[in-house]
Amino acid sequence: MDKIQKLIEENVAMLIVFTIAILSVAMMVEILPLMFSKSTTQPIEGVKPYTALQLAGRDIYLREGCYNCHSQMIRPFRAETERYGHYSVAGESVYDHPFLWGSKRTGPDLARVGGRYSDEWHRAHLMHPQDVVPESVMPSFPWLAANKVDAAIMPAKMTALRHVGVPYTDAEIAASVKDVEGKTEMDALIAYLQGLGLALKNKR
Ligand code: HEC
Repeated sequence: MDKIQKLIEENVAMLIVFTIAILSVAMMVEILPLMFSKSTTQPIEGVKPYTALQLAGRDIYLREGCYNCHSQMIRPFRAETERYGHYSVAGESVYDHPFLWGSKRTGPDLARVGGRYSDEWHRAHLMHPQDVVPESVMPSFPWLAANKVDAAIMPAKMTALRHVGVPYTDAEIAASVKDVEGKTEMDALIAYLQGLGLALKNKR
């Protein structure tokens, strides 16, 4: 035993090799089972792939950096479930590439914001948050109402997601350009927000 320890500790190359070997095994033990577990790879009942408009909205959410202030991950603690609803489960995020769980909460968690407010509320709020929540520190996003969604890029986006396992049909991909044509970025973002967390909305 002493000999092996000496060999590893005094020989940098050996130390590196053994460290990598041990970490690889540890990572496999932790990560591999999750890749095959149903609870992390199968959508829960009621979770569907994003519609073309919601998908466009999700990319605007990413582009505008909403995740810098909003998480989408309700932790299984009473203080969280009382405020936001059922805690988040992995099966809700299987169609999210990449997922937007986040951890920074300058604003509230948005994992179950779908249906909490009307579309009009969101529109007013995104145009100028202080109009509806006077003490808000959230910035305004007025350009979203002026910009049209880039419709031509939708089939490529959906095809890329299909490659990583989102079950979009050929018909859905073909219809995607028409589905978002003429819509503003504001419409798309609100469609995305209104769909968040509905599968477990009324459960506690
Ligand atoms: C600088 C931090 C910041 C950024 C960036 C930000 N928000 Fe907010 N957001 C807040 C704060 C703080 C609140 C709470 C006050 C309020 O309702 O305006 C909030 C509230 C909200 C609410 C209401 C949530 C609820 O349950 O009442 C929604 C929806 C929302 N933000 C969406 C967005 C979207 C979409 C974006 C990106 C376009 C965004 N936010 C960007 C800070 C931010």
